[in-house]
Amino acid sequence: MRDVDDWFDEAMEKIQSMSPEETVESGVAAGYFDPNVTKQPSCFVKMDSSNIEAYTPKYAVDLIVPYIPKDKVIWAPFSRPEHHFANYLRSLGYTVHNTHFDPKTGVGDDFLTYEPDFDFDVIVDNPPFKGKAKYVERAFQHGKPFALFLPFNSFGDNGIPKLFMANDAEPQLLIPDRRTQFENQPKKGISFKTVYICHGVLPKQIVFRKLHPSKD
Ligand SMILES: C[S@@+](CC[C@H](N)C(=O)[O-])C[C@H]1O[C@@H](n2cnc3c(N)ncnc32)[C@H](O)[C@@H]1O
Repeated sequence: MRDVDDWFDEAMEKIQSMSPEETVESGVAAGYFDPNVTKQPSCFVKMDSSNIEAYTPKYAVDLIVPYIPKDKVIWAPFSRPEHHFANYLRSLGYTVHNTHFDPKTGVGDDFLTYEPDFDFDVIVDNPPFKGKAKYVERAFQHGKPFALFLPFNSFGDNGIPKLFMANDAEPQLLIPDRRTQFENQPKKGISFKTVYICHGVLPKQIVFRKLHPSKD
């Protein structure tokens, strides 16, 4: 029998990954929405399947920098060379290997299956919004420290806590004092906070830090 919580998490993830039109269509089909009164909220950008290219600004990369010693080799597995987890960290003096996969074209190195042919000490990046737990699971499989920039609510879902328990690993959270506005977005405003979910990176389990958006 399936755990009802797991079912709920999957359903929520599916809804969050839908376009506004798909959300309304399925809500109307299920009888939850009246198509005549449903109105999409317009104040927030939606992180759905049509919006997977949300880029991390430098000021959010800065949050994790004090916890990564300069002699550590970083792997940024969701970054093209121009993304800040690659080029900005390099400009700060780090050695960074970046890889990237485009699910639309199938081009690149899929983090879920790719075996790096380089050595690295720590995985640092912002994985796709959809399917968060499977990226954390894959990070654990490499047996190295990681810092993954993910929506805060994913830490309270079932998938990620179960992975920390299965790996007998201490979870660490770096929580900024405000929400990150991602680059490459059609409008400003975001409905959730993004935090670094880490293992083996922070000096203690919870660290609060100030975001300084002025840098970008
Ligand atoms: C949320 S964006 C973050 C981009 C960049 N790392 C940053 O933080 O600015 C996630 C990126 O991962 C790519 N991606 C999607 N699935 C992937 C996979 N399985 N392996 C590696 N990259 C993937 C997407 O195309 C997208 O460019």
